[in-house]
Amino acid sequence: MKNPFKYGTIVKDDYFTDRVEELQIIHRTLESDNHLVLISPRRFGKSSLVARAVKESGRPCLSLNLQNVINEDDFASKILRELFHLFPLERVRHFMSHFRIVPTISANPITNGIDVSFQPSVNSMVILEDAMALLEKISQSGKQRLIVVFDEFQEVMAIRKVLDKQLRSIMQDQQHLNYILLGSQESMMTEIFERKKSPFYHFGRLMHLDKIPYEDFLKYISDRLPVDLQLSTAIAKEILSFSNQHPYYTQLLSSQVWELLTYDKIEADVVNQAIKQIVQTHDLDYERLWLNFNRTDRQVLQSISKGMNPLRNRQVASSTSFSSIKRLMKVGYVIRTKEYDVEDPFFKEWILNCGT
Ligand SMILES: Nc1ncnc2c1ncn2[C@@H]1O[C@H](COP(=O)(O)OP(=O)(O)OP(=O)(O)O)[C@@H](O)[C@H]1O
Ligand SMILES: [Mg+2]
Repeated sequence: MKNPFKYGTIVKDDYFTDRVEELQIIHRTLESDNHLVLISPRRFGKSSLVARAVKESGRPCLSLNLQNVINEDDFASKILRELFHLFPLERVRHFMSHFRIVPTISANPITNGIDVSFQPSVNSMVILEDAMALLEKISQSGKQRLIVVFDEFQEVMAIRKVLDKQLRSIMQDQQHLNYILLGSQESMMTEIFERKKSPFYHFGRLMHLDKIPYEDFLKYISDRLPVDLQLSTAIAKEILSFSNQHPYYTQLLSSQVWELLTYDKIEADVVNQAIKQIVQTHDLDYERLWLNFNRTDRQVLQSISKGMNPLRNRQVASSTSFSSIKRLMKVGYVIRTKEYDVEDPFFKEWILNCGT
């Protein structure tokens, strides 16, 4: 029997639920000349949602994660490599005649793909400009417009400080592409797309992805548990109350519960048992993490875990707590939807039991 819950990678087909309105908005944007900016905390389902929308559109799509890009040459090489993957070699080569610096292109017998590299150059931006221009040319020449997805887009600033400005000046003149820019560092993404002085201010339609709606997730889980409807609904409610509808952690816990029900035939207190097992698996990581936090961070995390407002903690000045929250949010340990919450509910559980 196959576990019907999946966590950690992109979910599609039967594993994918809801996001009906979001899909509609993405489709409308892709049918227009506009671009989309999609922001959410980590593991809320951005990649899964975009993958589904792209698949439904039936259009070619080039996707790059900027977290894996080292510099402009590497950015350009990766664009080219993806294009060779998407389109016939000859077609891409045909449109490369404008390249001011010619790359070395070779077949990689191990990956069965194509490797692209540039001689170290004095002006890497020229290489990237040409690669970006190639996207537009290929798209314009095809029957269907190309969709270009840049994941973890906030990393553009880490590649080089002024790269945002330069990219924007290229992208704003392109007429035959739809860009989807994703990011999970909310503060940086908001800074890039909502700050008036930023080059990407009002670049595209801004969408903040939320958790999966309660009723939908409830049905999704209870339909998949190997017990009668009454029990499965009760268990699904317990799961959601712990995971707070977080897409990834809900799937992770449901998967563990399913295993206990299916293989170990445990029904009594099954959700708590599953939670304990998962926390135990991560015990060492959590401890190491905890030891690396400073005193204020720990106090803030403890308050949030107990469901208290960390800014009202009388032992710490609220300005100190606030900088700690900002820091913890930036690195993803704390998220804010309706209120502040510890991102990982299993870590929260660990903090409540062991974090002193
Ligand atoms: N629509 C969905 N239906 C069911 N589960 C989902 C859905 N979207 C996401 N998930 C769950 O969340 C996990 C993370 O999804 P995904 O990788 O798409 O998120 P992400 O926001 O791109 O994450 P990251 O920040 O790591 O890039 C999935 O493996 C799955 O368990
Ligand atoms: Mg992703």
